[in-house]
Amino acid sequence: MADDKAPNAANSMWGGRFADRPDAIMEEINASIGFDRRLATQDIRGSQAHAAMLAAVGIISDEDHRAISQGLEEIGGEIARGEFVFRRDLEDIHMNIENRLREKIGDAAGRLHTARSRNDQVALDFRLWVKEQCEEAEAALGRLIEALLVQAKDGTETVMPGFTHLQVAQPVTWGHHMMAYVEMFRRDRSRFSDARLRMDECPLGAAALAGTGFPIDRDMTARALGFAQPTANSIDSVSARDFALEFLSAASICATHLSRLSEEIVIWSSAQFDFITLSDKFTTGSSIMPQKKNPDAAELTRAKVGRILGSLVTLMTVMKGLPLAYSKDMQEDKEPVFDAADALALALAAMTGMVADMQPNVARLREAAAQGFSTATDLADWLVRELGMPFRDAHHVTGSLVKIAEDRGCDLADLSLETMQSVEGRITQAVYDVLTVEASVRSRVSYGGTAPVRVGEQVAG
Ligand code: ARG
Repeated sequence: MADDKAPNAANSMWGGRFADRPDAIMEEINASIGFDRRLATQDIRGSQAHAAMLAAVGIISDEDHRAISQGLEEIGGEIARGEFVFRRDLEDIHMNIENRLREKIGDAAGRLHTARSRNDQVALDFRLWVKEQCEEAEAALGRLIEALLVQAKDGTETVMPGFTHLQVAQPVTWGHHMMAYVEMFRRDRSRFSDARLRMDECPLGAAALAGTGFPIDRDMTARALGFAQPTANSIDSVSARDFALEFLSAASICATHLSRLSEEIVIWSSAQFDFITLSDKFTTGSSIMPQKKNPDAAELTRAKVGRILGSLVTLMTVMKGLPLAYSKDMQEDKEPVFDAADALALALAAMTGMVADMQPNVARLREAAAQGFSTATDLADWLVRELGMPFRDAHHVTGSLVKIAEDRGCDLADLSLETMQSVEGRITQAVYDVLTVEASVRSRVSYGGTAPVRVGEQVAG
């Protein structure tokens, strides 16, 4: 066996046919230990399951299994305590741990890699990691949904302007607006859980790509590692990274939803809108302008979609055009996924904090809801309902009344009955009942509509 310390020694793990050690640049481009050390826990779990299986089917002795298992456990402790020395010349987490195991238990360590390759090893470690991240994202989304539900419940009667084109459209309720995000985040959560179920297959045992001649028990390792079943095709097992792409896709869609809500928070908290008050905990001050309270957490959450979507594009691009089975290109899968997972976790936590703390400014929301002729549709609907007008004609009559109100600088409800009747003679006093924002939202009782009674059901549902 080659000596690691010798200056010209080839790699001790695979260096049998090499006389020279790699160039420093080769070592730098080849090494993944700088980032794949994050897979240490998964790597040890995988090795424990593999060793237990090898012993169970008689490929290694119980004695070797005990030594391997004990050694791996100690290594786990060293890593957890920050004592483990990660070596770049050993390339990656897999060889760093195996090398340390050999230092600890000697030759028995060399038996651990029987019927296994780094190709199925890394596929397993990464899958375990991504699967856990799906679970974390689902839990974090659950917390965000809870915070939104509290806002929605408190705000079923709170009237605010609903917008299209960021122009006032129709009055809606705060609760309804919050529930719109609940819908989005529930779909996001189901995307992570769907992806998690699809990736719930264990690639360990695919070995390099073709499977192995050793009598391994793939069901046993799959079960021990918490997977529903082993993967069905050994070539696919070591080639597939679509589980990571699915995670990044779900993360990207979720990040766009977070970004849209962030954008609304930024707009709503501006002095011009003044729809909400953000807590001190999720805002910052300015070093020059003493009056400022900036929505930095919302802005940063809005921006995170850039790196998350960027990660998806990165990995899609790495994977496209790769021939089967494993290519070293695939080592580039980890950093974008780690970065996206971290960014998503932080963005979800920040959004949950902001939503839990933000206060809707009820009076200001109501005032804004009444601006911009927001009940014009209610007037048109009244003409249809009470006078039997075709909606298109009612739209035209209402448009004429809006024009008059606009020219006079008043609201629709401020126009006298005479003025109303000058445009449509059959209009009666009763029309004024539908021109308030409260009446407007109360009338929108269709399934999924903004009426407090419907929103209350959505919150409870
Ligand atoms: N560090 C490698 C990766 O992240 C592990 C697999 C290496 N396999 C190999 N045949 N060189 O993909």
